[in-house]
Amino acid sequence: MSYSPDLLKGQKALVTGSSSGIGEAVARHLAQAGASVVINYHSEKDEAENIVSAITSDGGEAIAIGANVAQEDEVKAMFEQMFQHFGTIDILVNNAGIQKDAAFVDMTLDQWNLVLSINLTGQFLCAREAAKEFLRRGVKPDVSCAAGKIICISSVHEVIPWAGHVNYASSKGGIDMFMKSIAQELAPQKIRVNSIAPGAIKTSINTAAWSTPEAEAQLLKLIPYHRVGIPDDIGKAAVWLASDDSDYVHGATLFVDGGMTLYPGFAHGG
Ligand code: BGC
Repeated sequence: MSYSPDLLKGQKALVTGSSSGIGEAVARHLAQAGASVVINYHSEKDEAENIVSAITSDGGEAIAIGANVAQEDEVKAMFEQMFQHFGTIDILVNNAGIQKDAAFVDMTLDQWNLVLSINLTGQFLCAREAAKEFLRRGVKPDVSCAAGKIICISSVHEVIPWAGHVNYASSKGGIDMFMKSIAQELAPQKIRVNSIAPGAIKTSINTAAWSTPEAEAQLLKLIPYHRVGIPDDIGKAAVWLASDDSDYVHGATLFVDGGMTLYPGFAHGG
């Protein structure tokens, strides 16, 4: 992938949960487009450091910062560390997310709370810190038309109900209203807020769904475009949403899902 290195030149980005999977791809793509990137990790310190090394040896700029996005004090400390190192923030990608699947009647309160606290409360805590800095700093026209950009990584399950995953689907449905409400509130201050809703993307969160030919064949029945996504698909979308090329896109959810949200069961029926 080659972007103009000027696309995000001088911009400082934080990608939560970027030590693997979709977050890693987003961080790498933002760096390729010229942004300086914080690789946030929870437990995968070595993996995060390896990504930093890869980005730096490519001529980019990155640092790794550990923080649990569900913990207010850790989030505040992460932003402080970022500001000490990079001075400010221009792009926040709220990516960190987990699944703790269980049948509804068997789901424990811990499973419910854990998923909601990382997937939804984590987005609130990080977006609030980023927005405060965007408001303090305002627009720098030589950097971007916007005072800042927030990209929430949601899921097709913000609209597709998901039996056996009610905590996850509820968190993603929550992200939809979270994103739109802060988009409405922050627009006058030139803060741009959008979501990306990935479909099935090959990462460790859903290995069971694509790692055998039988599983992949079942999964492809749900994807009209007949391809399972890869993290780069999301990385490219994130670069566009973070750049001034999408300056008039605000409060929108970009589904990157090969058509998973098109009710594929109705292609030959109904
Ligand atoms: C989930 C994956 C799932 C995909 C499509 C994602 O949000 O994390 O496990 O494969 O949605 O159902």
